[in-house]
Amino acid sequence: MVKINRPKALNALNTRFFQEMDAMIEDVSGMQDVKVMVITGEGKAFVAGADIAEMVNKSPEEGTAFSKVGQNTFNSIEKMDIPVIAAINGFALGGGLELAMSCDIRIASSKARFGQPEVNLGLIPGYAGTQRLPRLAGKGDALMLLLTGDMIGAGEALRMGLVQKVVEPEQLTDEVMNLAKTIASKGPQAVKKVKKVVREGLQTDFESGSNLESKQFGSLFGKGSEGEEGMKAFLEKRKPEW
Ligand code: CAA
Repeated sequence: MVKINRPKALNALNTRFFQEMDAMIEDVSGMQDVKVMVITGEGKAFVAGADIAEMVNKSPEEGTAFSKVGQNTFNSIEKMDIPVIAAINGFALGGGLELAMSCDIRIASSKARFGQPEVNLGLIPGYAGTQRLPRLAGKGDALMLLLTGDMIGAGEALRMGLVQKVVEPEQLTDEVMNLAKTIASKGPQAVKKVKKVVREGLQTDFESGSNLESKQFGSLFGKGSEGEEGMKAFLEKRKPEW
C-alpha cells in the first residue's frame, strides 16, 4: 500500500511527489511478488490537488512542463502491468481526482469528496482530467464537474461511475485489502493480461481490441502455461498452483 503522507497540505502534489512516485513505480515493476498496488492518502484528504503554492509563479512554459510531469506519472500508473486500486479516504480534488482516475479501480469512504475545482483558480485540469473524466463518467457529468468546480459526495460519484464502491470510513482499508487479496489469488498472468487488453482495447476500435484479446487469450495456453494449470486444477477438483 502506498500512502501519500503530507497531511498538513492535504497531500497536495508537488515535484517531490512525482519524483518519488516515478522511482517507486520503477522499483515495483521489477518485483515479481507484488501483485496489486493500493494508493491512499494520510489524514482527511486522499489528495486535494496539485500544489497551488508551487504552481502560482510558473510561466506558461513551466506550467506546460508541470502538466507533462504529472501526465507522465499518471500514465505510468495506468500502464503498470499489475492492477492499481485507489482507496479514496477523503478529498479527491483536481490532481487528486486525476490520480484516482489513473488507477484501475476506485473504492471510496462515504466521507470522500470529489471535484475538479481548477476553474475556481482560473485553471483547467493539467493531469489529463479533461480526458479521463468524460471517458469514465460520460461527457455531461464530466462537464458539470469541470465547468462548475463543484464538489460532490461519494454517493453521487458512485452514480456517475467514478467509483466502484462506497464503504464506511473505518471499513475502507479492510475492503480494499480484501479486494487486493482476491485479485492477487488469481492467475497472475491472466490478471495482467486482463488489465492490458482492457486498457489497450479502450484506446482502439472494437475489432482491433478483439484481435488483441484473441492473441492474449491464446498466450495463456500450452504446455506449462498458467491456463493449462488453471484448467487442469478445475478438472482435477483442486486449487491451482500458479
Ligand atoms: N495546494 C497547496 N496547498 C493546499 C492545497 C493545494 N491543492 N489544498 C489544501 N492545501 C493546504 C491549505 O493551503 C492549508 O494550508 P495552511 O494550513 O498552511 O493554510 C492546508 O492545506 C489545509 O487546507 P484548508 O485549511 O483549506 O482545509 P479545509 O478543510 O478548510 O478545506 C479544501 C479543504 C476544501 C480541500 C481546501 O483546502 C481546498 O479547496 N483546497 C484546494 C483544492 C483545489 O483547488 N485543488 C485543485 C488544485 S489545481 C490542480 O490540481 C491542477 C491540476 O490538475 C494539475
